[in-house]
Amino acid sequence: MATESTSIHGEWSGKLAFILAATGSAVGLGNIWKFPYITGENGGGAFVLVYLLCILLIGIPIMMAEILLGRRGRQSPMNTMAKLAREAGGGRAWKYLGIMGVIAGFLILSFYSVIAGWALAYIERAAAGAFTGIDKAGVEQLFGGLVGDWERLLGWHTLFMVMTVVVVARGVREGLETAVSVLMPLLFLILVLLVGYAIAQGDFARAVEFMFRPDFSKLTGESILVAMGHSFFTLSLGMGAIMIYGSYLPSHVSIGQVTLVVAIADTVVALLAGLAIFPIVFSQGLEAGAGPGLIFQTLPLAFGQMPGGAIIGVLFFVMLTFAAWSSAISLIEPAVTWFVENMSMSRATAAVATGFVAWLLGIGTVLSFNEWSDVTWFGRTFFANLDFLTTNIMLPLGGLLISVFVAWIMHREHLLGELEMPDGAVFQLWHFLIRFFAPAAVIVIFLNSVGII
Ligand code: TRP
Repeated sequence: MATESTSIHGEWSGKLAFILAATGSAVGLGNIWKFPYITGENGGGAFVLVYLLCILLIGIPIMMAEILLGRRGRQSPMNTMAKLAREAGGGRAWKYLGIMGVIAGFLILSFYSVIAGWALAYIERAAAGAFTGIDKAGVEQLFGGLVGDWERLLGWHTLFMVMTVVVVARGVREGLETAVSVLMPLLFLILVLLVGYAIAQGDFARAVEFMFRPDFSKLTGESILVAMGHSFFTLSLGMGAIMIYGSYLPSHVSIGQVTLVVAIADTVVALLAGLAIFPIVFSQGLEAGAGPGLIFQTLPLAFGQMPGGAIIGVLFFVMLTFAAWSSAISLIEPAVTWFVENMSMSRATAAVATGFVAWLLGIGTVLSFNEWSDVTWFGRTFFANLDFLTTNIMLPLGGLLISVFVAWIMHREHLLGELEMPDGAVFQLWHFLIRFFAPAAVIVIFLNSVGII
């Protein structure tokens, strides 16, 4: 039997509300900003293949496990882990998994907000007509001018963080989610339009070859780690965000089904973004490995040349901002529920406090693109270190522990009951994947990336 209890924080009106919120969390900068640039940096096809395999064999099974935990625990990740560990006879230490998630979410938010600020800045630029007739040198100058100026970055970062905190503090998430339910399909349409433009004007054939013909000689231990880390990042896994959304999920909704919908939507958006961007990269002679500025240095070229591009450009960056916004609220949510439950803080105080500290830490990311661009630790800037630590270490570690807990500590009947599945082939495949495959793959990829195996 699935649990009948409901969370003290409320419950989704139904399956659709959950799918919307979870897709809102999953689809964000990770799909449109990050996926193309890390694909470019890691050599294309082979990287994309590893990423897709990670989504299928690690991400989807762990997402099911994380939703399952949330729905059974019905509390903040930390208290959910403590409660379920007690139920299953596991140790008290499991609650620290929840704490790690709170910290990871907060660290990610600090840099996520800075990049979302770039999208805000580009709404303004697009509206001012800055893309009209722009050329390759122009886009580079536009982007360089923005990220080189820490005061402007700080201003946009501040605005985005305030937007996030306001929504979380006022508990008006439903409002944003309703907006996102209209804007996401629109974002999808614009992406399709951009792919159409890329087919007509860009070097589409070369882009397809780059993205889908694997050249395994380009694959390093680190790029496999980046592909795996990104599969967690893009699905919002491993830190409790999806666990919380699961805690609001009504009983009797099929966890497997909602997981598939979210994972497919997320993957399609990422691939479309790649197919919109790389044809322009190749036809304009840009650098596929240009790094975090990639979409900001390619898409304005398309907007500058296509008919109606000025309006489409504004719309695109507005949608991108909304996609980032609905992701950011899920990054802050674990910390906020934790403060509300354990420190008897109000939602508003918790949101403002968390947002403020994340904003402060975000200044490190702001400076990584200008004043501190030459300051490195382990060969990486402050931003790159934060991204590496959270995406490639904390999230996979969180996912590993989630799969171990669900597959090795929880009772099998509870899993069957929560998933509402018969003990058939699908359940057994899932159980095998989270019991053996996912944990082993994460460990092997970790060890391989540091050169141990
Ligand atoms: N998935 C989002 C994106 O791709 C980012 C995100 C939101 C996230 N919530 C998360 C990443 C939780 C990791 C964990 O942009």
